[in-house]
Amino acid sequence: MSKEETFQDLSLNSPSGQQDLWRWLYTELRAAILDRRLKPGARMPSTRSLSAQYSLSRGTVVAAFEQLQAEGYTRTEVGSGTYVASGIPEGFLSATRKPATPVGTASKAAISKHAQQFLKDVEVMPAPHSVGKAFRSYEPAIDLFPVDLWARVASRVLRRAPRSLYGHGDAAGYQPLRRAIAEYVGASPGVRCSAEQIIITSGTQQALDLISRLLVTMGDHVWMEDPGYLRALQALRNTGARIVPVPVDEDGLIVKAGRKLAPKAKLAYVTPANQFPMGVTMSADRRLELLRWAASANAWIIEDEYDAEYRYAGRPVAALQTLDSSGCVIYVGTFTKMLFNALRLGFMVLPERLVDAFRSARSIIDLHPPTLDQAILAEFITEGHFGHHLRRMRQIYAERIDVLKTAADEHLNGLLDVVHTGAGIRTLGWLKTWKSDRDATQKVRKLGLEVSPLSMFTVKYEQPPALMLGFAGCNPAELRRGVSILATALRAR
Ligand SMILES: Cc1ncc(COP(=O)(O)O)c(C=O)c1O
Repeated sequence: MSKEETFQDLSLNSPSGQQDLWRWLYTELRAAILDRRLKPGARMPSTRSLSAQYSLSRGTVVAAFEQLQAEGYTRTEVGSGTYVASGIPEGFLSATRKPATPVGTASKAAISKHAQQFLKDVEVMPAPHSVGKAFRSYEPAIDLFPVDLWARVASRVLRRAPRSLYGHGDAAGYQPLRRAIAEYVGASPGVRCSAEQIIITSGTQQALDLISRLLVTMGDHVWMEDPGYLRALQALRNTGARIVPVPVDEDGLIVKAGRKLAPKAKLAYVTPANQFPMGVTMSADRRLELLRWAASANAWIIEDEYDAEYRYAGRPVAALQTLDSSGCVIYVGTFTKMLFNALRLGFMVLPERLVDAFRSARSIIDLHPPTLDQAILAEFITEGHFGHHLRRMRQIYAERIDVLKTAADEHLNGLLDVVHTGAGIRTLGWLKTWKSDRDATQKVRKLGLEVSPLSMFTVKYEQPPALMLGFAGCNPAELRRGVSILATALRAR
């Protein structure tokens, strides 16, 4: 085979406009080697012929050749020319021209048995292209977040940060942020703790993941509120917990039922301030009953206070943690709903005896949280902007639930009974004419609204059909528009 033939047969793809030409040529020649259009030991086309054929400068061709040589695809024999290396493992050959497997189609066999178990039913959070959509339930009012102020604080912090902040940080989190959080939770939900008990996390979700990894052994029983927060269930199930759905009534998780179902459970997950998704507050009796059980069973309690700050009537309720005398409550908080989702910063308040283990675990997983983001947040809190923002949002969200309720009473009468919730960023609407909230959801989503069926959050204990409606992130006009679309959707069966 002549040099020219070898070259002619290569059928290289044309360069795409954006690529460096040397990189294009290198990629094409490498592909030709890997799928054996250029066989092991064959002589490579000369740089001169390639540059003539493709109108490339010699320098471009030489650069591509140098890269192939550096990566071991070719070898050069002085005075003789460049040859395809003969020692490329079979497995690599013919690897490049196979059609790429589309994302998301990994065969089941590629995923461990354990992961197959815990990945089933997991819905990956969408990355929305807009904010303020009715009735998105996972967003605070991002349009009202004071971005200029945040940017000013950020720029000052970044300019003044000592160089040491650009090095590794503490696995437990940036100390001034931990101090600021200890002060804030001490003042508002009344959590008693020192800064040393606080571990900064990437939102509630990482706290749940860490707790699940460290405190749950495969096969342990774990109480979950039913209906309850799916992502908590998923994080806990992930380490092999046997989930025990425990029913909820108007006083919160029914402790007696939990005791009956799994008296020796290892852990209980609760949202006492504003039960997700029913919106009830756990009564004092239930709190004490839960704590008594945990102390006697040597169990842990996760207190997830994701939106406790948003209470529109009265003051925020005191945390369960404040009543805990046996050190079994792990208080979990998040800034994703108090400030904005993308921040992905949250925290947990641990009993002292757990702190070292969680710190070590955090350092295995990702060393430490991003220090500069924490420094900005710490400054935002200590300068008083955080408190101010919460007060402002409390007022705005109280207005928004009023708008939603008023519009619903007017236009959804007999179709959807919207709860005038006194807390949180979302509420429920009880369906009056639909038997299946999943069918109703489908209908409503077709008209462009974001709602979820209540049944999505139940495991064992069925609830009447209802829709979850987020209201905090939508302005009044969007809420009213949403209500009128809801009316159309729910009327048409
Ligand atoms: C019950 C519950 N906990 C916690 C969170 C917040 O989770 P994260 O901090 O991971 O965003 C949410 C958000 O919707 C929630 O509904």
